[in-house]
Amino acid sequence: MSEHQEERDYDEFRVIEDLAGWRRTHHNNELTAANMDETVCLMGWVQFRRDHGGLIFLDLRDREGLTQVVFNPEDNAEVHERAHAIRPEYVIAIKGRVRPRPEGMANKNMVTGEVEIEVDEYKLLNTSDTPPFPIEDRVEVGENLRLKYRFLDLRRPSLAKNFIIRNKAAQSVRRYLDSLGFLEVETPVLTKSTPEGARDFLVPSRVNPGEFYALPQSPQLFKQMLMVSGMDRYFQIVKCFRDEDLRADRQPEFTQIDIEMSFIDEALIQDMAETMIKTLFRETIEVELPAEFPRMTFGDAMRDYGVDKPDLRFDLKLTEVTDIFADSGFKVFASSEMVKVMRVPDGASLSRKEIDEYTKFVEIYGSKGLAWIKIKEDGTWQSPIVKFFSEDEVAKLGERTGVQPGDILFFQAGPAVIANAALGNLRCSLAERLGLIEEGVFKPVWITDFPLLEYDVEEKRYVARHHPFTSAQPEQMATLASDPGNALARAYDMVINGHEVGGGSIRIHTPEQQKIMFAALGIDEEEAREKFGFLMDALKFGAPPHGGIAFGLDRLIMILTASKSIRDVIAFPKTQKATCLMTQAPSAVPGKQLRDLSIRLREKKKED
Ligand code: AMO
Ligand code: AMP
Repeated sequence: MSEHQEERDYDEFRVIEDLAGWRRTHHNNELTAANMDETVCLMGWVQFRRDHGGLIFLDLRDREGLTQVVFNPEDNAEVHERAHAIRPEYVIAIKGRVRPRPEGMANKNMVTGEVEIEVDEYKLLNTSDTPPFPIEDRVEVGENLRLKYRFLDLRRPSLAKNFIIRNKAAQSVRRYLDSLGFLEVETPVLTKSTPEGARDFLVPSRVNPGEFYALPQSPQLFKQMLMVSGMDRYFQIVKCFRDEDLRADRQPEFTQIDIEMSFIDEALIQDMAETMIKTLFRETIEVELPAEFPRMTFGDAMRDYGVDKPDLRFDLKLTEVTDIFADSGFKVFASSEMVKVMRVPDGASLSRKEIDEYTKFVEIYGSKGLAWIKIKEDGTWQSPIVKFFSEDEVAKLGERTGVQPGDILFFQAGPAVIANAALGNLRCSLAERLGLIEEGVFKPVWITDFPLLEYDVEEKRYVARHHPFTSAQPEQMATLASDPGNALARAYDMVINGHEVGGGSIRIHTPEQQKIMFAALGIDEEEAREKFGFLMDALKFGAPPHGGIAFGLDRLIMILTASKSIRDVIAFPKTQKATCLMTQAPSAVPGKQLRDLSIRLREKKKED
């Protein structure tokens, strides 16, 4: 190739052709040495074009992968001449022969790396403007640009792979549940608000001016209605909508594998769900999860890990030392509701700068400081606070934590909620920094015995930890009215690698118990009737004992594909600010549309 060739006007070669009966024989990840000398027909997008002394090499890409194709002027001069016009992202079809790559040119990192296709015939199916970023797996452009051109970003095989796994997962779940007699039943998207604790997305009703539907936060009440209807076993792979602050594993619309069963108890549901998840891992990424998932109570999880979704891939644990410092000269510790410490083996190598960064990090969780002690190799303790400790306190601390030279201890003192959240999250951050997390390891665990209610300081009342239809454990139903704070729920979460992937419960199925629950939540009869009249009615007409669970499909796919962001497993995700950069949603609408809906926008207040 010479410079002037690159500059030449090739428009005469950019005539778009018809497929005219050409049939694709393979995807671009399929051809290997086993296909040598076969005549094949491939189609796809042009990844690279390299001209090498007469030969033109292209990588042809589709959803599945890449195959190298070669245009040789000696084989077919006319086809080769036309190939000069090809640019990245053009859509082409080629027919040719599979041959080995020349000595030393094989690429071990590609499935098709041993072969290339010698092109005999070629068709240009479409041209492309120069894309705003190269479609490569090594991404170097910002996510916002990629989200604006999501249809191009999705062309990257590494991203497309996530959707291939997502599809496998959905099919696996459907096969499994179908084999157990579950019916897939659809439930409304325009509905009444169901309380799952987040804000609702509202949809105005044109024919009922001033009234609104809510998009479902989950189909919780509908699936319970289906049990009352006698559907017995229900499932749905369903979109849920929650207007909440977004994080790395949260989207405003996400997908649940939603499940409900009649005539069951916790053990039956957990067994069914566990087998479903084991099958899913086997059928999507060929991983065998443990035969039986361990169980941990909520109380133990909070005590040892500070969070209700412990990542069990690494060992760090928290230890409570409130009692040791009850009368300490170090007032911050003596005056706190809880003092907890985390011993980090070999953590003394952390620099002051890193400790300062972690001090900032725990502030997110309300922490007021991050005290630490480094144990030097000679056994001496280095710390800004140890001078305030008595000998007895030092001895007890050493004994309780089992601290060794080379370790660091991190402390949190404060309200229990803050101390736990700060150390619990620091634990995960440190594990990553210290390389304690082995790749490809999956640690599932059931968390059980959740409190039924939690006190909402702002609302000054108890709220349901899971939702108001969750049953208390049998021995506590009786004391729910007198001692609401101590009731345990018949609820369970499945946690994998520190993500809550699913949660569910055994439901209340009698009107009497539902009334007790509403009373404990401070919901009076009138409010109960207005919000949940249909539920109260349904429970009166022979509701069977029932319960269920819902899995976050997106979160499961994140784990299966080792994705860092939930956006990588959703085809058209929203940004952190809940916008879609591709369609520009949400957006303003014409005044007429608002008038039809009887909606008038409040004047934006002028900043003055
Ligand atoms: P819950 O509210 O625990 O339970 O939700 C079930 C699962 O859905 C996933 N999830 C999310 N995933 C992505 N983005 C979000 N914003 C988001 N919110 C939740 C989590 C979670 O474990 N109706 C009950 C289930 C039941 O009781 O059967 C429910 O919705 O993985
Ligand atoms: P101070 O006496 O405030 O300078 O704090 C001494 C050390 O204790 C510093 O390293 C602080 O980061 C740490 N510290 C302060 N408050 C707390 C707290 N509530 N929990 C844990 N460490 C704290």
